[in-house]
Amino acid sequence: MQKSVVWKQKSNIYSNIKIIAKQGMAMQFANRSIISIQDFTKEEINYILKTSQAMELVAKTGTNTLKGKILATLFFEPSTRTRLSFEAAMQKLGGTTIGFNDVETSSAKKGENFVDTIRTVENYADIIALRHNLEGAAVVAKEYSKVPIINSGTGAQEHPTQALIDLYTIQKEKHQIDNLKIAIIGDLRYGRTVHSLARALANYNVELFLISPDALRIQKNILKEIKNKISVTEKQNVEDILPKIDVLYVTRIQRERFPDPTEYAKLKGAYRIDQKILKTAKKDLIILHPLPRIDEIASEIDQTPHARYFQQVGNGLFVRMAILSLILDTTK
Ligand code: CP
Repeated sequence: MQKSVVWKQKSNIYSNIKIIAKQGMAMQFANRSIISIQDFTKEEINYILKTSQAMELVAKTGTNTLKGKILATLFFEPSTRTRLSFEAAMQKLGGTTIGFNDVETSSAKKGENFVDTIRTVENYADIIALRHNLEGAAVVAKEYSKVPIINSGTGAQEHPTQALIDLYTIQKEKHQIDNLKIAIIGDLRYGRTVHSLARALANYNVELFLISPDALRIQKNILKEIKNKISVTEKQNVEDILPKIDVLYVTRIQRERFPDPTEYAKLKGAYRIDQKILKTAKKDLIILHPLPRIDEIASEIDQTPHARYFQQVGNGLFVRMAILSLILDTTK
C-alpha cells in the first residue's frame, strides 16, 4: 500500500477514535491501571479490541502521539513476548522505555523493598508494566504508585493484557467471539493466562470446556465465578470434545509454580497436541497458545492451518499499542 494512502487511513482511524472518545468512552481509560481483566466491562473490552484493530495500521508507519512519554518495564520474572511487545508498542507510538528484565541487576538485589522500587520508578516513568512472581504485587504497586500500573503477569494469578490479546486473536481469526465452542487445555491451576482468559470469555456467549489432569484443575472460586455466567464443562481428555470445538487454547505446565518438583515430574507430558489427535478436529479449528511452548504442541502442527499462535504473538503488539495509547494519550 502507498505511504500516503496508509497515512490517510491512519488519520481517519484517529478521527474515529476521537469521535468515540468525545462520546465519553476513551476517557474511562486515561491514567488507569490494569490489574485484573475484571477491571473492564464487556463494552470496555470491545473498545480495546476495536482500538487494537486501528493500531494495526498505525503500526505500519509508527506515530508520535506518545512522544515524551516513558514506559518502565519492571520484570522480576523472565519474559520474551510481554516485555518486548510492550517496548515495541511504546516505540511505535513515539515514546521511550526504561527498565530491567533481570532482578539481579536492580537494587532489589541489594535488599531494596518492592514499594521503594515502585516509589523510585514512578519519578522516571509515566506508566509501569510490572511482572512479578508474587500474587498481589500489582495491587500493592497500584496502591503506592502515582503512575498507572499494568499487571504483566503476577504469580499464578492473572495476566490481563494476554487475555485481551487472546480475545483479539479469536475475533480476528473467527470473526466473532459469541457462539463459539472454546476449549482450554493444560495447567488450569497455575496458568495465569487461563485465569484471565476464562474470566474474559465469561463476558461472551461462549461454551467453555476446561481440560486438565485432575491435579491441575482450575481453582474452585474461579470456576464458580465463570459458571455463573456461561456454560462450562470440565474434562480430563480433549479427544471427546475435539470434533465440536472451534478454538483450542493450549498452555504449558507451569513448572516454576510447583512447590514440589516431584509433583511436576509426575504431570510432565500429561497431554500433547499432535497431528494424530487432531484427526477428528474441525477443518477450521484454530489452536492458540500464549507461549512459551515446551512440548505440549508438536512442532508438526506449526505448518497446519490450525496453528495461529504466532499470529497471536504478532497481535500482542497491536493490543499493547492500544492499551498504552488509551491510558496515556490524554489528547483524545
Ligand atoms: N505470553 C507471555 O506472557 O509470554 P512471555 O512470558 O514470554 O512474556
